[in-house]
Amino acid sequence: MASNLQESIKTALEFMPEHRLHRKRTWALTLDTLLDDARSQKEVSAGTLDLILMGYRYTHLFQRELGEFLKKPNLEPRELKDLFQVVFAALLTRTKTPISTLVSEAVEVARWQFGAKTAGLSNAFFRGVTRRLEALKDEVELRPQILLGPRLLQRWGENSNAAKKTGQLISLRPEGGLSAFDDKGQFFESISMLDFLAAKTRGEKIQAMDLGSWGFAKWCHGKILKQHQKSPTNSSGAWSLLDACAAPGGKLIAALTLLNIDKNQLTLPEKVIATDAKNSRLSLLRENLEQWKLNELVQVEAISWGEAASSPASSQAIEGRGRIPEHFDWVIADLPCSGLGTLHSRPDIISEDPGKRVDEVKPLQAAIIQELRQRLNDANSILIISVCSVDPQEIANISAQLDGQSPEYSSWENADAKSCEGITAWVFRKTKPQ
Ligand SMILES: C[S@@+](CC[C@H](N)C(=O)[O-])C[C@H]1O[C@@H](n2cnc3c(N)ncnc32)[C@H](O)[C@@H]1O
Repeated sequence: MASNLQESIKTALEFMPEHRLHRKRTWALTLDTLLDDARSQKEVSAGTLDLILMGYRYTHLFQRELGEFLKKPNLEPRELKDLFQVVFAALLTRTKTPISTLVSEAVEVARWQFGAKTAGLSNAFFRGVTRRLEALKDEVELRPQILLGPRLLQRWGENSNAAKKTGQLISLRPEGGLSAFDDKGQFFESISMLDFLAAKTRGEKIQAMDLGSWGFAKWCHGKILKQHQKSPTNSSGAWSLLDACAAPGGKLIAALTLLNIDKNQLTLPEKVIATDAKNSRLSLLRENLEQWKLNELVQVEAISWGEAASSPASSQAIEGRGRIPEHFDWVIADLPCSGLGTLHSRPDIISEDPGKRVDEVKPLQAAIIQELRQRLNDANSILIISVCSVDPQEIANISAQLDGQSPEYSSWENADAKSCEGITAWVFRKTKPQ
């Protein structure tokens, strides 16, 4: 009978690149979506998730070591590579499972999953890694940036803050559990998945969120309070807010929660509109708003900002635009982006071409910003733009769309690095203060 560890390794393999390549559904979806799906169906345990994430995070070091080990360029069958990758990372990062157990269990998986002939080769690779284990661990500890691979290191610079911080984040196993906030504005740095799900089932208002996004929501809240103290919007105090790229809604809910807590300083916005281009994500947004009893305050609409009027999807977008006001006091846009500030939670991006990712999102980011700039109300209105990226080129591209303005917020400047997304944000005023 297969042990728990063997079962865990087998489940992890289904999420790895070669396995996904041969299954139509899994290849079409991103790792992020697959994991979200699996988590909601409780298909992956915390241990399996760890095997998957660490397997992806150590991709570049694994490829180097595999290249040195193999005489032929490819493994047969190709899916065996996934087993090597998962177990390589586990050998380097697991502290509680004895190395000999890990190796023998992994060899058993090779035997049953890929045929008896693969057991010898697997054993040889894992034993080779075991012999070099201390040297490999020292290398990662000394220079965690090597995990980013040559393309990112060349792009960001070996000793840049982005490279060092990302390297540190992806080299360490994530703490167990997840971080979240509640309706009292409390942030929990680590709560177990079981406690989190139990609280949700009891109908408590609790939302999973990483420290970087929470820091961003607090920063937005501070900006809103300060601006309203300086120049209240109108005599009734009514003000409007558009979250243009809102789904699934974590940051909007966090900002509204914080505003709700200090109601005595500022009333909640009279009108809040939340839009997103993707229907599947809009459903998640609606569910989340309902759970937080914010569905009456927040009007949700499907709108693809920056989309040319002639584009095929535009009829829905035109209808959506017709249902919302022309102008707002505050517009927030958490733009679709390269994701290069989230490599620890989306480590499959590590093996992609970062330049291509940034170039691909650039036109859409520019078009969204240009359209949203037109949606600001008056001279006091403010547009907040954010991206989950620390890529200097992506940041420069966005600054160029905001008349050369530099970002005012970086989640990595103040926060503790443990599980903090790299978020960069700008504040853009319709008219610059004199
Ligand atoms: C970074 S995510 C937003 C996360 C969200 N702010 C939160 O805190 O949960 C970017 C979102 O932009 C949406 N999006 C992509 N293109 C868009 C467009 N043209 N107009 C509006 N939303 C768009 C995506 O569907 C995605 O939900």
